Amino acid sequence: MEAKKDWLEYDADEIVRGDRESLWHHLKPHRCFDSQEQMIIVEGDGLNVKDIRGREYLDATSGGVWSVIVGYGRDSIADAVCAQLKKMPYFAGVFGTVPAVQLAQKVLEKLPKHGKVFFSNSGSEANEKAYKIIRQASWISHDRKGKYKIMYRDRDYHGTTLGALSSTGQAQRRQGYGPFLEGFVEFPHCVCYRCPYDKTYGSCDIDCARNVEKKILAEGPDTIGGCIVEPITAGGGILKPVKEYYPILRDICRKYDIWLIMDEVVCGFGRTGRFWGYEHYNVDPDMVTMAKGLASSYGALSATVVKQNIFDVFLNDPSDPETRLNYFRDISTFGGCTASLTAALESIRIIEEENLVENSRIVGDYLLERLEELREYECVGDVRGQGLFCGIEFVQNRKTREPITETGMAVLMAAVLAEGVIVGRTNSSFHGMNSIMNFAPALTVTKDQVDTIVGAVAAAIRKTFYK
Ligand SMILES: Cc1ncc(COP(=O)(O)O)c(C=O)c1O
Repeated sequence: MEAKKDWLEYDADEIVRGDRESLWHHLKPHRCFDSQEQMIIVEGDGLNVKDIRGREYLDATSGGVWSVIVGYGRDSIADAVCAQLKKMPYFAGVFGTVPAVQLAQKVLEKLPKHGKVFFSNSGSEANEKAYKIIRQASWISHDRKGKYKIMYRDRDYHGTTLGALSSTGQAQRRQGYGPFLEGFVEFPHCVCYRCPYDKTYGSCDIDCARNVEKKILAEGPDTIGGCIVEPITAGGGILKPVKEYYPILRDICRKYDIWLIMDEVVCGFGRTGRFWGYEHYNVDPDMVTMAKGLASSYGALSATVVKQNIFDVFLNDPSDPETRLNYFRDISTFGGCTASLTAALESIRIIEEENLVENSRIVGDYLLERLEELREYECVGDVRGQGLFCGIEFVQNRKTREPITETGMAVLMAAVLAEGVIVGRTNSSFHGMNSIMNFAPALTVTKDQVDTIVGAVAAAIRKTFYK
């Protein structure tokens, strides 16, 4: 990485001490800092990052949670944001701003069957808006009276706020946060490697999708207003449903007038080799939520996008004009930050200009091909993914599919880091089942960089399990 001048003067030891004393990190047991120092990232360029001690890494996670889609060091985003901030930094959604209008138009260009875009500032919030739209619609519309429940899938993650967590199917992530909100209904996941029905693809009847109807009937179709899914499950272990899955799920949802929400928070903006993750399937969602890659995390921004008929439920509230609620009674202060909206416009422009969705498809195929080679090691139970979004499930025993231990996984992760590459993993999501390593580099990644990533993982596997 080319040496850059830091924009702040600091003493590295002081910052490290300050981190330990002041900062509460997410997903981190702080006891680990008794024996090791927290890594502090100070610079980034493309896929490369440098820490405060001068160590360099190739980041195969797009910033830890798959969100810096266009890579680090994008001056054009910084410049566009700076110019907009000088002109007009903020106005709440009660009025329009130029970047808000332009970004809404751009998002709808990518979702031509949809009608309206609501901005907020995190993936959790985007999903909360979707749930609130469903609940409020069920309150004001004669056709949807009482349809307030949301269905969600085991192993999917939809966010950290209590509504989003109530719709998250990861036991360990939910632990200790109950009681959860009423009106959320779980159904089984759909990963063939650990089929919840003990079936095998090819000889099954896509039971994982068809059985959702039984769940709906048991729960009462008149009470269910929405069904949320991740097109390809991310934090739950890179789970890609088979091609028949979503068309079946969509037909079931249509039959019972249930709005299908695609949570594109991770998969959107080219991550899987198509602009939207759901485009790998013949499916047409009623709502789409997005966040991480929307502004490539150069700003905090999310959006909830709905079909026009959903918006019209609010517009055409048939109640008494004096008391009716013919608008979505919701607010997002930071949905009006023009810096994030401008960052998103520029990030999408980069994705288009540099054909990054195509790069994700081509280099993503190469990544999967290279990861497949790691099956030569007995500890590799499964390799799966789509585009630049892949995972390896590590096991102790290929036959029984017993996962490797948490300790084994931690040692392996540290060994990859020691090779100079940052990769991700399922992190405290399922008791005893957090053994899936994931790869989601920026969409600019090259085949050479893929070779470096896979080489580091192979070396780490050998050092950890085959010394
Ligand atoms: C699929 C999915 N949806 C929603 C969220 C929540 O997004 P945020 O952390 O921005 O609230 C995440 C976060 O990882 C996610 O993976």
